[in-house]
Amino acid sequence: MNVLVIGGGNMGMTYAEAIAKSNFLTSGSLMIFDKSEEKQAELRASNLFVVHAQLNTCLPAADVVLIAVKPIHASGLMAEMKPMVSAGQLFVSIMAGVTIDTIKQGLGIGKVVRAMPNLPALVGLGMTSFTASEQVSRLELAAVERLLDTTGRSINLSSESEIDASTGISGSGPAYIFYFMQALMDAALKMGFHEENARLLVGQTFAGAVELFNSSDLSPEAWMAKVASKGGTTRAALDSMDDNNVNALIQEAAYAAFRRAEELGKQTGGKEAVHA
Ligand SMILES: NC(=O)c1ccc[n+]([C@@H]2O[C@H](COP(=O)([O-])OP(=O)(O)OC[C@H]3O[C@@H](n4cnc5c(N)ncnc54)[C@H](OP(=O)(O)O)[C@@H]3O)[C@@H](O)[C@H]2O)c1
Repeated sequence: MNVLVIGGGNMGMTYAEAIAKSNFLTSGSLMIFDKSEEKQAELRASNLFVVHAQLNTCLPAADVVLIAVKPIHASGLMAEMKPMVSAGQLFVSIMAGVTIDTIKQGLGIGKVVRAMPNLPALVGLGMTSFTASEQVSRLELAAVERLLDTTGRSINLSSESEIDASTGISGSGPAYIFYFMQALMDAALKMGFHEENARLLVGQTFAGAVELFNSSDLSPEAWMAKVASKGGTTRAALDSMDDNNVNALIQEAAYAAFRRAEELGKQTGGKEAVHA
């Protein structure tokens, strides 16, 4: 199988490196194309894949094409690709807000997978949700899943509406976690800790809590009960959060991202400059 990654930015490079290092493909069958000469030189230096400077030297030979350019560049890129694509090729897009129909029409093909990764893909701990057009076979879907899993874990959803919902949870989610971390760091600084110690206290607390959560089937609520005892310090903090409706506010924030993802998907061709 020949795989072509289009766009060698943060995400394209992450996928290309992860796929190359996974030994999923035989050497020489992973190609990457970026229009910028500077980026091409950077990509060549990694020595992990074949770097192309022209679409016509790589696109016709690809079985799977991973599109990783910004949504604002989607329509221009698809217009350029259209004369070179064929019906048997499978297109995997990670462009936020660009729908399967937009890609089908833009390229004049049928096999499309729309995927929504998140930033921890950069360190192999990504969460990618994806859904496919009807024309994609089970076998092809399994191959795509293996490609996506090289950057972490993935979940196959049944509709694009679920992709929008997952954008509100896992796509935008890392920023909510950073928000919470920043708030705790701000509190630590106010309490008199130096930046370095505040960072350690917060980072290790998050890492430890996540590790515990992933080590069992216990719900977050059950874990909270294990930390908080009646009349204790943790209970005081949790009561304060409940009094201030923090749970409802976080849910509202996730819904705001979900609604925004829906709105952006409705805008034609993903022409708006959108981001996960
Ligand atoms: N970052 C995230 O957490 C995240 C999460 C989910 C989804 N995504 C999606 O991932 C996609 C890529 O994001 P990113 O952060 O990796 O963007 P990025 O760093 O800007 O990378 C895109 C690359 O594609 C190049 N490019 C633009 N037009 C091209 C064309 N016609 N042909 C070939 N290459 C072209 C860009 O070159 P120039 O710089 O010269 O324009 C750039 O090197 C976006 O669609 C985004 O919605 C990102």
